[in-house]
Amino acid sequence: TWTPGSWTDEAIAAIRDRVGPDEHAVCGLSGGVDSSVAAVLCHKAIGDRLTCIFVDNGVLREGEVEQVVATFRENFHLNLIAVDEKKRFLDALRGVTDPEQKRKIIGKVFIDVFEEQAAKVKGARYLVQGTLYPDVIESVSFKGPSAVIKSHHNVGGLPERMKLELIEPLRELFKDEVRAAGQTLGMPHDLLFRQPFPGPGLAIRCLGEVTPERLEVLRAADSIVTSEIQKADLYETIWQSFCVLLPVRSVGVMGDGRTYEETCAVRAVRSVDGMTADWVPLPYDLLARISNRIVNEVRGINRVVYDISSKPPATIEWE
Ligand code: XMP
Repeated sequence: TWTPGSWTDEAIAAIRDRVGPDEHAVCGLSGGVDSSVAAVLCHKAIGDRLTCIFVDNGVLREGEVEQVVATFRENFHLNLIAVDEKKRFLDALRGVTDPEQKRKIIGKVFIDVFEEQAAKVKGARYLVQGTLYPDVIESVSFKGPSAVIKSHHNVGGLPERMKLELIEPLRELFKDEVRAAGQTLGMPHDLLFRQPFPGPGLAIRCLGEVTPERLEVLRAADSIVTSEIQKADLYETIWQSFCVLLPVRSVGVMGDGRTYEETCAVRAVRSVDGMTADWVPLPYDLLARISNRIVNEVRGINRVVYDISSKPPATIEWE
């Protein structure tokens, strides 16, 4: 029978056997559940011979960079390279409004950045990835351009380009098993029960052009949604809850004045695997608090709408 304790012991031993005493591994750490558990597992196996690379792509959420760096450097003592490439990503995204274009640009810049950083790690032979069983299935069953709904952000061609061999310790696990493994590794509950966040980040929730100003507006609104959902104790029962900034301006009133500002959509879905999803009937009083706080606290948004679309036919992310 599968127990997280025996599984982690075996997984650690297997990595230790595979990576020779003079060899090194690199890992792209996003701060999400999968890459985090993969990194900690690998760290237990080979210690300082693992280097994690965390890229600030400019489209992360409020406080996210500080949180990831603090967790992994201070709590886990991981060998962590954190690179601030905000400007590079945002420059590449300037003027771009097409959803697929945004995804491709972010994917490409990420690979360039990762490659530059990984090249600095002497003796790197392995690339650690937090691939799960559903990812393996999905990439097998969704081949062919007609099936591509959204090009996903991952390090696809990277291993061959850099001649790295993959270490994918979570390949046979489902999300709940990864969380259980993380718990036996002593990882914090809040980290293990974080909602999924897409690789292209806020760029695909900032419809229209991704500018620093609009990102700031979205970030502020998004952090209100998260904190209200957490206060209502609903965070872990929801697959994802977030804000989408729409490039639609409408007229509002503030004090004696007229406003003409953008609209924010709030989305909350329940799902088991992200493949299908139902919108969540959040309590009206919670929606009211979210809406009031956003229009009162976030300059740039004067109207809040609630997304009541399920997947299919809608998708979870708007782009
Ligand atoms: P959609 O929008 O396709 O999303 O219904 C399904 C799930 O996948 C997440 N998502 C991504 N995750 N890279 C990721 O790692 C991506 O490019 C990406 N795009 C969407 C999304 O947040 C949802 O959980």
